[in-house]
Amino acid sequence: MSVLFEPIKINRMEVCNRFARSATNDGGADEDGFVRDRQVTLYEELAAGGVGLIVSGATNVQKQGQILPYQWRITSDEHCRGLSKAAEAAHRHGAKVAVQLFHGGAEAGTYGASRGFTAKAPSRLSGDDPFFPFFKSEYGVLTSGDIEEIIRDFGKGARRVREAGCDAVQLHGAHGYLFSQFLSPYINRRTDEWGGSLENRQRFILETYREIRLQVGPDFPVMIKLGVQDSFEAGLKFDEGARTAGSLDDAGFDALEISSGARGPGWNKTEFKTGIRETADEAYYRLWSREIRPLVKSPLILAGGLRSFELMEKIVAASDADIVAMSRPLIRQPGLINRWRQGDRTRSECISCNQCVQALVEGRMALCGQLDKGA
Ligand SMILES: Cc1cc2nc3c(=O)[nH]c(=O)nc-3n(C[C@H](O)[C@H](O)[C@H](O)COP(=O)(O)O)c2cc1C
Repeated sequence: MSVLFEPIKINRMEVCNRFARSATNDGGADEDGFVRDRQVTLYEELAAGGVGLIVSGATNVQKQGQILPYQWRITSDEHCRGLSKAAEAAHRHGAKVAVQLFHGGAEAGTYGASRGFTAKAPSRLSGDDPFFPFFKSEYGVLTSGDIEEIIRDFGKGARRVREAGCDAVQLHGAHGYLFSQFLSPYINRRTDEWGGSLENRQRFILETYREIRLQVGPDFPVMIKLGVQDSFEAGLKFDEGARTAGSLDDAGFDALEISSGARGPGWNKTEFKTGIRETADEAYYRLWSREIRPLVKSPLILAGGLRSFELMEKIVAASDADIVAMSRPLIRQPGLINRWRQGDRTRSECISCNQCVQALVEGRMALCGQLDKGA
């Protein structure tokens, strides 16, 4: 049997194989962030299709952190009911569900402007800055009180996820959202204990972890998707990203997923890389994961352009990662893993055209644009 079909434990959670659906905002919630039935059906399809661990889309712990309409929220106890339904659907087929807890920081600016709130970030970049504006709308600066409130809201969100019967939480610490903004020396210009040295820039993640741990107890899996390098010269360097991975592991995070940090000017070249035509284009963050491996004791999850069964098998067999995660291929083919398990090891049909991402940005559900065309 392939190593990809061996189970693995993350804290007390046993995942039946090494395949995760990497966090995917499917744009299918209602305006108030409640789970809709079509999403429960999607979780059922993914689980029935053989995915071992489904990581939800970015789920807002505060309304002020939301970046797009139709994202999930976990801002009230009423939001638990929908999460329970999604988890039950996945559990019927043996899959586990992790909810990705999220705050967009400055990236919530555009959505906030349309919904009457002002987004806030660790600090404000000036209009003369050569990289300005990454953040396209107005935003303010977080006070220490705001930061403490956000940390408490992450804790409340995590507690609700556990009470809803989901299996784990994952912090979204990548792609230039709030945790990434704190970590980035370019975006975080604070001079108090939340900015400056690497230790200070890590503080927001670590304090959030501690609060979540208090709320969920020692045996509930708490994971993070970590952006270990920003995609522009003045941003977070890999050396600091890798050291952060080690610190978070030491602090007690139960698994780390490796991805990129703040994007800078274009997302088609970073986590949503296009033009993945052959095996050599795949697994574009594998080297980061390999370098981080010796620094981290807990399981490593690798996402980013994974398309071929044989390559994923080599990655896990070489211990460059313990779990392989996919997003776009499972939008195209939710049953891909079972097809592979049954012996048809043909590469994913996803051509990484990013029409799924485009749909999301335009306020539609993230479906495969190629399938819409009947391809
Ligand atoms: C439609 C769509 C929505 C996504 N939403 C999220 C999200 O909510 N949180 C997150 O961490 N990553 C999100 N991602 C990024 C994926 O988790 C993944 O890191 C990236 O797409 C690379 O993997 P892939 O080549 O398998 O698609 C999303 C990707 C897509 C295509």
